[in-house]
Amino acid sequence: MSELHTPQAGDDHAPDLDVVGLLMRQHGDIRNLFDEVEQSKGDERRDAFHRLVRLLAVHETAEEEVVHPFAGRAFEGGEQVVEDRLAEERAAKETLSALDDLDTDDPEFLPKLRALRTDVQEHARAEERYEFTHIRRSTDVTNLATMAKAVKAAEAMAPTRPHPGVESAAANVALGPVAALMDRTKDAVRKAMKNG
Ligand SMILES: [Fe+2]
Ligand SMILES: [Fe+2]
Repeated sequence: MSELHTPQAGDDHAPDLDVVGLLMRQHGDIRNLFDEVEQSKGDERRDAFHRLVRLLAVHETAEEEVVHPFAGRAFEGGEQVVEDRLAEERAAKETLSALDDLDTDDPEFLPKLRALRTDVQEHARAEERYEFTHIRRSTDVTNLATMAKAVKAAEAMAPTRPHPGVESAAANVALGPVAALMDRTKDAVRKAMKNG
């Protein structure tokens, strides 16, 4: 087993009432999962990679459903900022699905994973710098909490911890199509927004 401990929602019992804080924590979780994939092998790497794919899919879908639409109308220049972020997300999704077709032990896997990591982390930095700071300034705690609730509903679909018995057959459970996961995430987010 890896020595890395990826923090998971609920670990600290923090209510995650601020959507910006929550998304920045997810950026950290994504960074840790990239480390975990790079530093492991075999079944352990496959399992960590599946968790990474799920979290990325769920994180970006929640941003696209909740945060980008809000940012687009919340501050001056928001529309352009969001357009740039969406273009980065589309590019990352393409790299991700190319990577998803490769076996995690394929010699091509790590170089492609590192390229994805660079893109994903640049994208996350751009969100934090050009979008998230403005979101905090443009709204109130109630709205930050409503958006956080919707992002949490999405996050519930992406476990960041290893499956129990990762060295056994559990790691070989199919990931399932990423597109289907994104659709389920969209439904969960929309439901949470409606009830928020
Ligand atoms: Fe994003
Ligand atoms: Fe993000």
